[in-house]
Amino acid sequence: MTVAKWRGEFPALRETRDHPAPVYLDSACMSLVPTQVLEAMEAYYRDYPGCAGRSLHRFAEEVERRYEESRAAFARFLGCSDARGIVFLRNATEAINLVGQGLSWAPGDRVVISDREHNSNLIVWQRLARERGIRIEVLSLGPEGVFDGDRLETLLERGVRLVSLFHTSNLDGTSLPVREIVERAHDHHAKVLIDGCQAAPHERVDLSRLEVDFYAISAHKMLGPTGTGVLASTPEALADLRPLSVGGETVEWSTLEDHELRPPPHRFEAGLQNYAGAIGAHAALDFLTHIGFDRIREQQLRVNNEITSGLEGERRVHLLGPRDPARRPSIYAFTLDGVDPNDAALFLDEGYRVMVRSGMHCVHSFYAQRGLSGNVRASFYFYNDRRDAETFLRAVRELLERVPSGTVTGTSAATGPPAAPHGSGPRRAVGSTAAVARSARPPRRAERGRAGSLARSG
Ligand code: ALA
Repeated sequence: MTVAKWRGEFPALRETRDHPAPVYLDSACMSLVPTQVLEAMEAYYRDYPGCAGRSLHRFAEEVERRYEESRAAFARFLGCSDARGIVFLRNATEAINLVGQGLSWAPGDRVVISDREHNSNLIVWQRLARERGIRIEVLSLGPEGVFDGDRLETLLERGVRLVSLFHTSNLDGTSLPVREIVERAHDHHAKVLIDGCQAAPHERVDLSRLEVDFYAISAHKMLGPTGTGVLASTPEALADLRPLSVGGETVEWSTLEDHELRPPPHRFEAGLQNYAGAIGAHAALDFLTHIGFDRIREQQLRVNNEITSGLEGERRVHLLGPRDPARRPSIYAFTLDGVDPNDAALFLDEGYRVMVRSGMHCVHSFYAQRGLSGNVRASFYFYNDRRDAETFLRAVRELLERVPSGTVTGTSAATGPPAAPHGSGPRRAVGSTAAVARSARPPRRAERGRAGSLARSG
């Protein structure tokens, strides 16, 4: 299959009579869903809408079979030798919560995280620090985001219970050396939890080689549906976790006084499950396997190379992370002098149907430390092509032309009331953003005019 054929499998990329295909550069947040995943989910509701593990009729048997097939497919995909080590959950966030809230902690137990973790791998530890007295040790990756084994070693020597790190950063697309981290941690009898959300969609993750104790992923970043994630581990390691919720399906038996939990993984899957999600995710794994990670990497690197070299000479564009796209194949994250990141994102979408993510990408701690209001992130997958790169470059160049340097837009231009505390991050200053963005509104879809009206920085 060529990239054009792959693109044809994604309904969201279709052109209409009135519009060219959108340029989707937000796959690090959520990837697009191919027809065969949509069909697999529809087939569940249409042809065998039963629930697994309960009734004995044919619908129930069919869904049971397919649900367990999906579990086995995840085990194969991630190199786990035992499918009983795969727990279906809502997403990687829930998987990290299951480990965090499921281990029994004593006051003073130490957890190592990095200084670039997504909130999903931060807040849970902060809560445990407050509520159960664990200690968080922060592994600094330095200004360049580079892993230093000696620094980790120093932390491990203090006696660490768990090392919990991202595999690939959602900020700049760089990866950590997971195998080395596991070796060092295990030498000090610490367990390792890895947030694999940004890695598993892009590279072969072989847990039998990496020997990670717990690996968390979300299907919605790898062609699957939302609301479906996996914690991959071993039945033995899972047995140390207390389930987040209990109820139907989690017990062998119960009386009015007591119950006995089922072995992993079923003890973690309380109530009716997201069968369509698991079945759709299986179809997504088949799709990815069919394409293969070599071709996935090659295609996204092609696009990333073109964008990186296309913006290299632009004085006002500042790339986050290493220059070499091979070290961050799926992400190009940047700031533009004098342009608020949210304004840039709206401009790209309104004028060029280019969809990127702007703001703090759920890593508020990173931006707060640096006094930044966020940035713009273009993220790639194998369905992006050269035309996407060209449109993106054209759009960024036009934005730079329309907003002269020296103009200050967005959060940095505090002409309105001070930023209000808000769940998703600092609000933009009232007035400044809207005025500049309005004057810079791209020619084509000026009627929408959302610039300056939204404040999304999470
Ligand atoms: N959804 C998060 C992102 O977009 C992980 O980076």
